[in-house]
Amino acid sequence: MFEALSPLPADPILGLSAAYKQDDNPDKIDLGVGVYKDEAGATPIMAAVKNAEQLRLETETTKTYQSPAGDPQFDEAVADLLLGDTLANCRVASVQVPGGTGGLHVAAGLIRRCNSEATIWLSTPTWANHAPVFTSAGLAVAEYPYYSSQLRGVDFEAMADALRKLGSNDVVVLHGCCHNPTGADLTEQQWQVVADIAIERGFTPLIDFAYQGFGRGLDEDAYGVRLLAQRVPELIVVSSCSKNFGLYRERVGAVCLVSADTQREHQALPHLLNVARSTYSMPPAHGAAIVSSILHDEALRGQWQQELTSMRDRMNGCRTLLADRLAEMGLGDSFDHIRGQLGMFSYLGLSVAQVQRLREEFSIYMVDSSRINIAGINQQNLDYFANALAAVSR
Ligand SMILES: Cc1ncc(COP(=O)(O)O)c(C=O)c1O
Repeated sequence: MFEALSPLPADPILGLSAAYKQDDNPDKIDLGVGVYKDEAGATPIMAAVKNAEQLRLETETTKTYQSPAGDPQFDEAVADLLLGDTLANCRVASVQVPGGTGGLHVAAGLIRRCNSEATIWLSTPTWANHAPVFTSAGLAVAEYPYYSSQLRGVDFEAMADALRKLGSNDVVVLHGCCHNPTGADLTEQQWQVVADIAIERGFTPLIDFAYQGFGRGLDEDAYGVRLLAQRVPELIVVSSCSKNFGLYRERVGAVCLVSADTQREHQALPHLLNVARSTYSMPPAHGAAIVSSILHDEALRGQWQQELTSMRDRMNGCRTLLADRLAEMGLGDSFDHIRGQLGMFSYLGLSVAQVQRLREEFSIYMVDSSRINIAGINQQNLDYFANALAAVSR
């Protein structure tokens, strides 16, 4: 049977990591994989997570099965984190899922049950795993324009024009904040326009919210989610705790269904849970228990927020340092857009040939689109990176 399978191309990001590991240049820099790194280049466990884990070790009493919706306390706390004050005015059903990717899969399964003819619209460009997740659920995928390399930012006119052509068979995937891979986010005014168009045209927005707290702040980053939750009749939010709690391998996230009325919620929720049941039965418990105890405990929550703030400040600081250094070298015009981007990623705007030169001549690793993980930059490697960038840009 297996002989029928054709070989698959290597995953570009995993290939990059493997090449980086094998490189013996002491100055090598890894700007590829999307995990947060501290000033020392490490991805440590957050102190609030360690403390919550300690508590769990002492208080956990059973490993019995839980329900497909996961931990109800987690579900409630995460809905509150995502929706804040707007929660009181929305009808929300929230379900624990195995990470953002697991959440997108379950959401895709639900969409297919609602409408097998639905088209999922993804931004150009978008996270590399979006199209595979939706196509593997049997859904059609199409693209709307988003980032313009000429504008070095969002081409909102082109995006809005494309959205104005959609209708009730369409689901539009929006990045809640910290757009991956470009770092270019919608402004508050642009979110308002997206809400207007969604209402006018009747498409369903699905917000992929993988970086809450990495851009401007926990509440600020939720602007689009909260606005759409209040304005559109149906919204799907898929959130991830991989980045903002640093729980990558624990697989924690949530799917929130926001509906205009109880009847729709009662129709949708059992199907969402049924998709989960037939896929993985129930989500893993450990990471969600950690998140739940952090969010329910004032001291742990305060500690977590402080840590998250310093991670965000570090990433924003890296942007400024890099842009300043490149401006000092006379390259300001080409890289000034880095300052305004948000989150862990930045699109440098280099050609594939320049990216390859950086890899081959300087052992600097990034994906071919010239997306960099800004958290991979630190005081130690900043000058080396800036000089290499200058060398391939001249
Ligand atoms: C835009 C986006 N969505 C979803 C995810 C999935 O996150 P998780 O690791 O929780 O599956 C990622 C992870 O990189 C992402 O960048």
